[in-house]
Amino acid sequence: MNATLKGKRIVNLFLEPSTRTRIAFEIAAKSLEADVISVAEKSSSLTKGESLRDTARNIQALGADAIVLRHSSPGSAHYLSSIISVPIINAGDGAHEHPSQALLDLFTLREKLGDLRGKKITILGDILFSRVARSNIWGLLKLGAHITLSGPSTLVPKRFEDFGLRVTYNLDSAVEDADAIMLLRIQHERQTQTHFPSLEEYSKMFGLKVGRSKTNKNCLILHPGPINRGVEIDSNLADNEQSLILSQVTNGVSVRMAILHLYCS
Ligand code: CP
Repeated sequence: MNATLKGKRIVNLFLEPSTRTRIAFEIAAKSLEADVISVAEKSSSLTKGESLRDTARNIQALGADAIVLRHSSPGSAHYLSSIISVPIINAGDGAHEHPSQALLDLFTLREKLGDLRGKKITILGDILFSRVARSNIWGLLKLGAHITLSGPSTLVPKRFEDFGLRVTYNLDSAVEDADAIMLLRIQHERQTQTHFPSLEEYSKMFGLKVGRSKTNKNCLILHPGPINRGVEIDSNLADNEQSLILSQVTNGVSVRMAILHLYCS
């Protein structure tokens, strides 16, 4: 297979902060020999009042072959794909979706667990504001995994059960027998009100620690990052052999190479 994207121009339009996704897309594009142009909000004419629509139309007029978009508004990637003709790759749109993150999470889980049919995967934390949770739920359901959601009741809507998932607000029940636990940070940047009394209380009730209650000792730990040590995850657990956190990051490059190859070659 000829994987090269030599001569293609990929524009990384990241209008929200990012470390992993932005750098992984950049390394992926460069590994495929594409030309990469990275644009951040502060250095763009969005600060002068230009709309997202006009920014994207100008990037297309400049000869981009694809735009990788991160934006705080749910639906922004879908909207741009309806008004311009080059591929728009969603690198996270508000609390809606983060498809490339879910694909790398599924890749990492399959590397360790093989077929995910019947595997018990717990997603723990701020589900309400998490695009990572939403995209993973679609993917895990498609691959036949059994999903449990857990966290404070204010951040884990019971209505998610309508998708065929289990929702529990009891951490011991959520993690018992899990093959993997996917931890999520609290998405403070999307919250307009407080959903629990304090971070200390959150950590005490839902923070995961080495040897926590009945967690299976072979249980895998995932986290999309950035991690908040001492809040949703204990520092020792983040760094121990159960943790796949850095494997997820590494796998993010090859998964994004595949995405770029599919959409741009
Ligand atoms: N997982 C993730 O999206 O991380 P970044 O915000 O650093 O890209």
